[in-house]
Amino acid sequence: MENLIKFKTIPSTNLYLKENFAKLKDRTIVLADHQTNGRGRLQRNWKDDDDLLFSILLKDNLKGNITNLSLLAAASIYKTLIKHLENVKIKWPNDILVNEKKISGILLESIISSKVDCVIIGIGINVNTRDFKDDLSKKATSLFLETSVLYNKESLFEELLRDFFYEYELYLQEKSDYLNICRENSYLIGKNVLLMIDEKTKEARVLNILDNGNILLLIDGKEVEMNYGEITLTGVY
Ligand code: BTN
Repeated sequence: MENLIKFKTIPSTNLYLKENFAKLKDRTIVLADHQTNGRGRLQRNWKDDDDLLFSILLKDNLKGNITNLSLLAAASIYKTLIKHLENVKIKWPNDILVNEKKISGILLESIISSKVDCVIIGIGINVNTRDFKDDLSKKATSLFLETSVLYNKESLFEELLRDFFYEYELYLQEKSDYLNICRENSYLIGKNVLLMIDEKTKEARVLNILDNGNILLLIDGKEVEMNYGEITLTGVY
C-alpha cells in the first residue's frame, strides 16, 4: 500500500499536498471524510456530502505531458466504475458521467519550479449521496442514486487506488491504453458543443482526443486543436 494520510476534516486534500509535498513521498495519498474548501476546476467548489475525496501525489518519473495524467486518472476511474454501473462516460478533460450526470471530477494541479516538482491528482466521487441541492440534482448523480445500493466507501477507495496504480505502472512503461479508453467511452466525441474561447462563444464539433491529450475540434469548417486551459465548455447538444 502506498503512503496513506487520513483526515476527518480538512480544507482540501489537494491543498494539503500542495503545502506539504516537499516532505512527502511519491505516491502519498490523502483521504478526507469532509472538506471545508474542496476545490474544483475553474474556481468552482466541490460539494462535501458522502463522497470519496482524495488526492494522489506524484513526484517521481514526471516526464512528458503531465496534463495527460488527468486522462489517465479518468480512464482508471472509468475502469473501476464500469464494474458497478452502466452508461459510464468520460467527459474530456476531467469529468466522469453516468447517464449524462456527473459522478466524479478530477482536479489536476502541479507545482513547477525549474522542473515539475510534483503533480497532484484530486478526485471526488459521489458515492452514497442521496440528494443534490438545487440545480445540482439535474447535473449530478451518485453510485447510490444509480444503483440503490449503499457502497462501502473503504473498499471502493481500495479498488480505485488499485486500478489507478495498475494503470499508472502501465503508463510509466508506455503501455497504458488510457487514451483509447477515453476515446472509446468519450461523452463528447461526435457531439456539438458551445465553447468559450477568449471570452467569445463559439460552436464546434468534437472530432477526437489527440495523443497529447488535446481535443480536436471542427470550428467554422476548420480543424482546431486545443488544450483544456484554452477553452471552457458551456453546452453540449
Ligand atoms: C471538478 O469537477 O471540477 C474537479 C473536482 C475535484 C474535487 C476533488 S475532491 C478531492 C480533491 N480535493 C479538492 O479540493 N478537490 C479534489
